[in-house]
Amino acid sequence: MISKDRMLITGGNALEGSVQVSGGKNTAVAVIPATLLCDEPCTIENLPDIEDVHALVDILTELGAKVDYEPGRMTVDPRTVDSHEISYRNAQRLRASYYLLGALLGRCGNAKVPTPGGCEIGSRPVDQHLKGFQALGAEAGEIGGILTAKCDALTGGDVFFDMVTVGGTVNVILAAVKARGTTVIYNAAKEPHIVDVANFLNSMGARIKGAGTDTIRIRGVQNLHTTTYAVIPDQIETGTLMIAAAATGGDVTINGCIPTHMDALSAKLLEMGVKVMDYDDAIRVRSIEQRRAINIKTQVYPGFPTDLQQPMSALLTTVKGTSIVQETIFEQRLRHLDEIRRMGAHVRVMDRTAIIEGVPELYGAPVTATDLRAGAALIIAGLMARGVTEIYEPGYIDRGYEHIEDKLRSLGAVIHREPVE
Ligand code: UD1
Repeated sequence: MISKDRMLITGGNALEGSVQVSGGKNTAVAVIPATLLCDEPCTIENLPDIEDVHALVDILTELGAKVDYEPGRMTVDPRTVDSHEISYRNAQRLRASYYLLGALLGRCGNAKVPTPGGCEIGSRPVDQHLKGFQALGAEAGEIGGILTAKCDALTGGDVFFDMVTVGGTVNVILAAVKARGTTVIYNAAKEPHIVDVANFLNSMGARIKGAGTDTIRIRGVQNLHTTTYAVIPDQIETGTLMIAAAATGGDVTINGCIPTHMDALSAKLLEMGVKVMDYDDAIRVRSIEQRRAINIKTQVYPGFPTDLQQPMSALLTTVKGTSIVQETIFEQRLRHLDEIRRMGAHVRVMDRTAIIEGVPELYGAPVTATDLRAGAALIIAGLMARGVTEIYEPGYIDRGYEHIEDKLRSLGAVIHREPVE
């Protein structure tokens, strides 16, 4: 990715006030392809205004759907879809283009999607997705960088995942909702957005049970009818804002979130000594001066999310003592620490483990975002640092955070963007 802009942050301000969280990115990127399965127009609300959503608008349009998009809301009429192939250019714009495989296979029994782009955080194979489609009777594979799935009539089957995979779980649900018979997914992912995608499909008449547990049953139906559905708030944006409050010695209330989705992060912030107060649909985070070092190991939900590991490890660079961070999900998700080291952090990375010795303060430096959540981590580091931090490649951040500068500015951050000369 080559962004024309860079983000500039003058650190040192404690964030204070309240902020509204946006709709969930990871839900939106699954629910939008899922509209292709509907037999009538349907509407999605509370969509985040982010680049991944814009890319999916273009992809659905490319497939022939009528898309009426305004920030926050989208109506899709899939009845005019006349293609089952995504262009390389569009598929490369986001990781979640792989959901078009399950959605198109479920819709017309045929899908061709170039291997997806998105964040470089490890090898990210899709073998489990393909195995799932095969269990439903499809021919599925990869030839010359194109993922293909094809079947005359999908039939429900048992799918045993070798590992817990969010994308694989959603993709098999998408393929199975209109298959003949019942599909059972074992070792399914339990993330909140799996439940939200199932709720969206069920609101159109699908019969999915068990989403949010490790066994999901999908009884195939023939038709899906119209719906209007609002996606859940973004768990990772909520967590990033909570970490920003804790990192800057701030006091921030995040409105419109689902506090129970944040339990793993809240537990870790509490362990550090930070105050976390849950309300019905809000969380208040109040930092303290003497935070304690902690250890983190990323896990599938409800464990500590890998997507929050990067912002959290940025915060730990200024917490007195030694913190150990273990990344168990993706191989290359500690690269942001190389950048934060340029800002004065003391970090040793060995394979997938980072040993962080907290320093009293970071100082501003030019740094580069290497992926979406790495970008969020650099923002956290910049907010804490003395002086000006320049973040290059902020385009990665725009893939998943809605109007992040405006939100942080409303809390007192000094942050803006300018063209790179
Ligand atoms: C999703 C999220 C991403 C999050 C990740 C883990 C979306 C759009 N993205 O990504 O933000 O960081 O879950 O919570 O929801 N794997 C295989 N074979 C497969 C599938 C996965 O080996 O076929 C491995 C992956 O390499 C990884 C692990 O399984 O090590 C989990 O990946 P998965 O849950 O599938 O992540 P994504 O769906 O890509």
